[in-house]
Amino acid sequence: MRGFFISVEGSDGSGKSTQIKKIEVYLKSKNQEVLLTREPGGTAISEKIRALLLDPSNKGMTAKTEMLLYAAARAQHLEEFIRPNLEQGKNVLTDRFTDSSIAYQGFGRELGDIVAEVNYIATGGVLPDITFFLELSPEAGIARKKTEENHKMDRLELEEQEFHERVYNGYKVLCHIHGRRICRIDASKGIDAVFAEIQENLDRLFGF
Ligand code: TYD
Repeated sequence: MRGFFISVEGSDGSGKSTQIKKIEVYLKSKNQEVLLTREPGGTAISEKIRALLLDPSNKGMTAKTEMLLYAAARAQHLEEFIRPNLEQGKNVLTDRFTDSSIAYQGFGRELGDIVAEVNYIATGGVLPDITFFLELSPEAGIARKKTEENHKMDRLELEEQEFHERVYNGYKVLCHIHGRRICRIDASKGIDAVFAEIQENLDRLFGF
C-alpha cells in the first residue's frame, strides 16, 4: 500500500519545526514508518538549490528565477525521494511543498497563476494527502524568529512587511480553495493545543 504524503506549512516562525518533530514521534509511537524531509531541499541537488535561494547575498535574484529554482528543487525532490518512498509504503512528512510556492512566489512576489502552471510541470499535480497550515500573523511570526538565539535571517525573511502580508493572504486563499486537504490551525494557541488538533486529523487519516 502507498504511504501517506503529509506537509506542514506556515509563516516564518509559526512553530513548524516543533510540530513536525511531534508528528514524527507520534506516528512512530503508532508503529508507522515516517520519513522527514524539507523544501527547498531533501536531496543533494535540491539542497544545493536551497543554498542559492536562501543566500542573503543573492539580492539580485529575479522573482521568476526564484520561482523556477523552487520548482526545480521540488521536481528533483519528488522524483528522487518523495515518490519512490511513498510507493514503497513509507509515509513522507515534508516541511513545505507546492503551497509555499503559491503563497510566496504567487502572492508574495505577485507572479500569479504562472506559479501553479510551473509547479504542475514540476510535480505533475502531485499534492499531499493532508496539509497542516499553522496560521500566525506575519508580525507575530517575525517577532518570534527575531527572539530565537543566533537566528540569522535568510533572504526571504529579510523581505519587507508587505511581502509577508501578501504571503499570509495567499495561504488564506489556499485554505479556501483546498478546504478538504488543508487543516488550518491557529498557531498562537500553544504547542500542545496545536498538536492536539493535528493528532485528531492524523488519527482520522490513518484510521487509528
Ligand atoms: P527555511 O529556513 O526552511 O524557513 P522556514 O523555517 O520558514 O520554513 O526557509 C525556507 C524559505 O523559503 C521560507 O522563507 C519560505 C521560502 N519558500 C518559498 O518562498 N517558496 C517555496 O516554494 C518554498 C518551499 C519555500
